[in-house]
Amino acid sequence: MKRATIAALLALAACKPASPEGDQAGKGPPAPPPYMMRAEMPAGDRLASGRDGAALFSNRCGSCHLAGGMASNMLTKQMVLAGRPPSDGLLANRTDLTQSYVKAVVRNGKVAMPRLSRVEVTDAELDAIAGYIGKAGK
Ligand code: HEC
Repeated sequence: MKRATIAALLALAACKPASPEGDQAGKGPPAPPPYMMRAEMPAGDRLASGRDGAALFSNRCGSCHLAGGMASNMLTKQMVLAGRPPSDGLLANRTDLTQSYVKAVVRNGKVAMPRLSRVEVTDAELDAIAGYIGKAGK
């Protein structure tokens, strides 16, 4: 075998194979992505107002809308196609959503977004959630 070939083989052998675990290799399983780690349902009467909108959003909407969720992936693509930053794929980062728009989408659905009933998300919960992500006002 030629010297150059041997050198090339040695260089290749020294390369670490890419591991799907990335930096986690050898340190146990990787941490689950945010959409799998939703906040617990906040305590209290589901029909009462004034509960934590961020926690309710995480619990009720997070399986799709936290980082890594199906809706975040779809909306990130839509945002980038529209010339907006990928970070706008997360509803919590949006500043252009009104509270009434958020409520309309939740109650009526929108393309791949299923409509959610008042059993899944009560009106009081939706008010709190819309207050949290509806940063463009009422
Ligand atoms: C089962 C998954 C799922 C759940 C749960 C879900 N969504 Fe969605 N949502 C989607 C998907 C998917 C889209 C993107 C729809 C499309 O454009 O095809 C979306 C889109 C939206 C949009 C529209 C964003 C835009 O730019 O027009 C809003 C607002 C929204 N969701 C709010 C919520 C809120 C608030 C909750 C919780 C109360 C929630 N969603 C729960 C899947 C979900």
